[in-house]
Amino acid sequence: MKLTALPRKVARGLPYLGKELRAIASDRTPFFMAVPRAVHIWRGAPCNAKCIMCTYGYFKGDKYRELISSPFTDEMMLRALREIHELCGRGTLVSYMGGEPTTSRHVLEWIELAGELGLDFRFTTNGYIMNEEMAQRFVTAGLFNLGVSLESLDPKINEIIRPYKDGTAKTLRCIELLLQERGRQKKHISLNIKTVLTDINLESFLDIAKRFGKIEGVICTPQMFEPLEDMPSATKELLCIKDTERLRRVTDQIRELKRQGYAVHATEQALQEMVRQNLADKNGKASTMHKKQIEMNPSEPECNIGTDNLWIEHGLVELCPYHAPIGNFVKETNLTLKQMWYSESARRIRAQTRACRRLCTISCLRRTPILHKISTFLKIA
Ligand SMILES: C[S@@+](CC[C@H](N)C(=O)[O-])C[C@H]1O[C@@H](n2cnc3c(N)ncnc32)[C@H](O)[C@@H]1O
Ligand code: SF4
Ligand code: SF4
Repeated sequence: MKLTALPRKVARGLPYLGKELRAIASDRTPFFMAVPRAVHIWRGAPCNAKCIMCTYGYFKGDKYRELISSPFTDEMMLRALREIHELCGRGTLVSYMGGEPTTSRHVLEWIELAGELGLDFRFTTNGYIMNEEMAQRFVTAGLFNLGVSLESLDPKINEIIRPYKDGTAKTLRCIELLLQERGRQKKHISLNIKTVLTDINLESFLDIAKRFGKIEGVICTPQMFEPLEDMPSATKELLCIKDTERLRRVTDQIRELKRQGYAVHATEQALQEMVRQNLADKNGKASTMHKKQIEMNPSEPECNIGTDNLWIEHGLVELCPYHAPIGNFVKETNLTLKQMWYSESARRIRAQTRACRRLCTISCLRRTPILHKISTFLKIA
């Protein structure tokens, strides 16, 4: 990290530190004063690709149509951003997920409004339609962070998982264009290169991390492959990691890369859970994680997701996607997100999330050590 960047990062990080202190006080005293430091907006929306591990890749007919539509419409995003600002103030991560966001003609308005409100807006893209103009506009509008999905530097591997003509070259060009543009505008935007770990690309993550993990403001994230419900069994069979020892070796190599200063976004707990999860369910037979009843180690602390995270999932407002909603953003227009967050039903459901011991795929958002949060923030801010 360049020392000259430190004052900007500290200024940007102060609101998060304030939220962290409020969360700690809320978890340890009877007084609840926390506000979300991250809001996740998940909704159905169109995508321009058909990756084999994704529902967009294998759902057809009505099921596919359901994926690309949502009661939470594009137009509701501006109200959502204003209400998030009212509840959380500046310095809040707003993470958007809906199909392929770059295909929405509204995405620039969202980035711009978020920038004006001081919210840190981010989403993940396949990067296929990124061009000079889009890169320039995203950086100018103040996009905080962009996830870029890439399964391998080798097109022969990447394009098995992500079949798209010249997709690997296009995704790599997206990364290049954004790095060039932020240099040209001298503005900051961080990139998070995300790789799903599967049986056919497991070691590819190490090559990706070596290529990008030492560039300022770039982090690389390994994500465990989720054998989703309804996924064709041939795809599960192809992608599930069969040899836990091989996965263990890769997690050891990830630890070594971290020691060497490569920016890999995976806590020690997450690396251990990847191996544990694979040992418990090697072939994905137990289906999606929320159907599995694999529990975390008894020594792990209680889950504090409901203290500092909030979801708007297809319009439902939730403290965790695996627990009951605390409100409905689409239907309950008489209530703001702030009112829902401090409501009696939120208090009750928050108690349930604290008691939850599920080994879930939201593990990277659960209580992570404050030093890890600060170090991650300093890398991406
Ligand atoms: C659903 S995509 C949406 C954003 C964008 N279209 C993209 O591909 O980056 C978000 C992330 O989920 C990952 N993903 C998709 N299916 C998955 C699965 N079955 N298991 C784990 N991660 C998956 C993708 O690789 C991507 O990084
Ligand atoms: S580009 Fe993203 S949303 Fe589209 S099919 Fe691939 S993983 Fe799914
Ligand atoms: S452990 Fe996982 S499923 Fe349970 S409340 Fe926490 S984040 Fe949600």
